[in-house]
Amino acid sequence: MEESCRLSKESSRKFLTLRCFALARRSNHLLRTLTIDHAWEDGSVASVQTMSTGRIVFLGDINGAPGRMVLEQQLPAIRERFGAFRLIANAENARNGSGLTPDLYETFRRFGIDAMTLGDHVYRDARIVSSLEDPLKPIARPANLSARAQGKRLIRIPASVEFPRDLFVFTLLGRVHMPSLLANDPFACADELLQSLPERNPIVLVEAHMEATSEKGAIARYLDGRVAAVLGTHTHVATADARVLRGGTAFMTDVGMTGPHDSVIGRNPEQVLRHFTSGMHIPFEMGSGGEAVQGAVVEVSLETGRAISIERIDFPADYTRAPFRAMHAR
Ligand SMILES: [Fe+2]
Ligand SMILES: [Fe+2]
Repeated sequence: MEESCRLSKESSRKFLTLRCFALARRSNHLLRTLTIDHAWEDGSVASVQTMSTGRIVFLGDINGAPGRMVLEQQLPAIRERFGAFRLIANAENARNGSGLTPDLYETFRRFGIDAMTLGDHVYRDARIVSSLEDPLKPIARPANLSARAQGKRLIRIPASVEFPRDLFVFTLLGRVHMPSLLANDPFACADELLQSLPERNPIVLVEAHMEATSEKGAIARYLDGRVAAVLGTHTHVATADARVLRGGTAFMTDVGMTGPHDSVIGRNPEQVLRHFTSGMHIPFEMGSGGEAVQGAVVEVSLETGRAISIERIDFPADYTRAPFRAMHAR
C-alpha cells in the first residue's frame, strides 16, 4: 500500500510538471515551471520547483548587404526555433562593411531587432550620432569611450509580455590590439555602470567588443555572477567555448558574424591577399558567399538575472529562396 502511494505521488508530480511546461509554451513561449505544493492525505507535501526564464538572442556583427539579406531571410526561422525573446544585434558593419546609417537602423528595427550595439566602427557614418543620442532609441555607443564622445552608453529595453523584466545592454571596447579608437578601462567602466542600475538582480548583457581572447576571457571572469552574459564580438569568427561560468554568467569568446563567410572576416579575399602579400594599402570591398546568421542564445532566470544555458547559433542562407535565389539565377 505504501509503495503504491509513493508511485502515485511520483507520477502525479511528473504529470503536474509536464502540464506546467505545456501551459507555459502555449501562453507566451517563455519556458516556465510553476510551484505546485500539493498536500497529501498523509500530511506530506509534493512540490515542483519554480523557475521563470527568458531567452536573449544576440547576433554577431551584421556585415554589409550580404549580412542584411541573410538576416532578413533567416529571422523567421530563428523566431520559430526560439519563440518569444529579446533580439539584439551588433550592427557596426551594416553599411557596406563599416558603420551604420539611420535608414539601416530603422530597417533592422522593422525586422524586429529590439536593440543594436556598435563597436570600433561606431562613428564611421556620422549620421547615426543623432540616433545614439536619442534616449528613446535602443542603440548605444561603446560605454568606455571618452566622456566627451557622443551618444549614450547604456540601453534599457523595458519589460514586456514576451520578456517581463527590464534588460540592460552595454558594450565594452577592448584595449589590446584595438588601435582605431581610444578606450578607457573596461573593467572600471563595467563596475560604474552596474552600480548605477537601480534594480535588484538586474538582467544585464555585456558585449565584449575586443580583439584579444585573453581580454574577453578576463572581463567575463571579472563580471561572473554579476551579469547574465558576456558575449564577445569584433573578430567575426565564432568560437566553440559557449558555457555558463561558475557564478552564473553565460560566456562565449566570439559569437561570430552575420554576413558572408566565404571571405576574410567579411571582406573580398583577393583584395585582402593582395594587401598581405604586397604590404600595400588596398581598399577592401565586401565579400560574398557562405552567408549565415551567427550568434548565441542565452536563457536567463527572470528571478536571479543569471544564465541557465547558452548555445551557439548558426543559420546559413537558403540559396533556393529570395533574396538569394534571384542573385544566383543571374
Ligand atoms: Fe569591431
Ligand atoms: Fe565588426
